[in-house]
Amino acid sequence: MKLETPLCARFGLAVPIIQAPMAGGPSSQELVAACSAAGALGSFGFAYTQPEEMKKQCAWVRAKTERPFAINLFSSPLPAPIAPAAQRAALDAVAGYYREMGLPAPETVTAPYAPDLNAQLDAIAQIRPRVFTVHLNDLNKDRIKQFKTLDILVGGSATCVAEAQRLEQLGFDFVVAQGGEAGGHRGSFLRDPYQSLTGTLALVRLVARAVTVPVVAAGGIMDGEGVAAALALGAGLAQLGTAFIPCPESGASQVHKDLVLAATEDGTRLTEKFSGKPARGLANRFIDEMAAANAPQLAFPAQNAVTGRLRQASAKAGNGDFVALWAGQAAPLSRALPAAELIARIESEAIAAIRNLKGMVHDA
Ligand SMILES: Cc1cc2nc3c(=O)[nH]c(=O)nc-3n(C[C@H](O)[C@H](O)[C@H](O)COP(=O)(O)O)c2cc1C
Repeated sequence: MKLETPLCARFGLAVPIIQAPMAGGPSSQELVAACSAAGALGSFGFAYTQPEEMKKQCAWVRAKTERPFAINLFSSPLPAPIAPAAQRAALDAVAGYYREMGLPAPETVTAPYAPDLNAQLDAIAQIRPRVFTVHLNDLNKDRIKQFKTLDILVGGSATCVAEAQRLEQLGFDFVVAQGGEAGGHRGSFLRDPYQSLTGTLALVRLVARAVTVPVVAAGGIMDGEGVAAALALGAGLAQLGTAFIPCPESGASQVHKDLVLAATEDGTRLTEKFSGKPARGLANRFIDEMAAANAPQLAFPAQNAVTGRLRQASAKAGNGDFVALWAGQAAPLSRALPAAELIARIESEAIAAIRNLKGMVHDA
């Protein structure tokens, strides 16, 4: 028994599931290859990855499977270089944590704070993945046209109706409706992210009625019941991030995997203290104390560099206190299964859920 939506054929998928891009480690080449080989869409989160490394990892995946995969980048503009004096308060705010982890004091960070987006976009044109998506902003029309000419499907994240409509107007092939439950960075780019937290159930319906391009549902979907619900709402595919964090193929740190598996209801918070932009993750000392102190932070992604060595050292020590434990609100539903097994289970759960619903329909 198979579960296929019209979008599956367009994307070249055997199941209507996208393994969400997860920049910063979790969406490793091993996870992308395993998800794509299993018939879902494996997605690289390459926001922090240099073009040469992007090409290397894509070649690795292509040596493992001929099935399609996706690449995702952050398309938000970078801040102007921040003078050392203007960084002092943000560095002082985290200095105690650096000391606690036995690290030298945090140093002034220097621009550029992230890889050059244009060079990354040029790499996309060379790699030619089946699907390319942007997060945190839209993309200029020329690039969209270029990628479409190369037969790349182009998508973008929307956290409100206005963003979905903007992406459609620019010529995007599809939109990813990211509900407020979602783990990781809020994709908001037209409105204040804290004012764009509509839940997946409401957002997917609102977006599906407002645009004619296909909609992908993201946020809080962890199992087949969730996938079936997303399809019932009008989504063509479901994008799952947190569900894939505990997979053995995921590049998330062990402490991140363990804490996602041990998550309890309402254990997540939104914070901009790790990177400079709001993202949802499991509450920990860093998030709680930085929020309580109303601590200053640098603009995104300079703040990511400020907390970089701290996050790494904390993860390496198996201490979740200072790790960005990005996860969505439904994290307690997570399962530690190999990616192919997880995808197969989700598919059979979705089929059972849809059959169950069908069984409730009777001729009058
Ligand atoms: C660890 C982690 C990292 C993420 N990184 C990215 C990213 O690089 N690009 C992106 O478009 N979305 C990113 N997201 C958000 C996902 O695309 C998606 O919206 C989210 O995972 C859906 O909610 P869920 O986690 O409840 O499944 C990330 C999510 C997580 C959990």
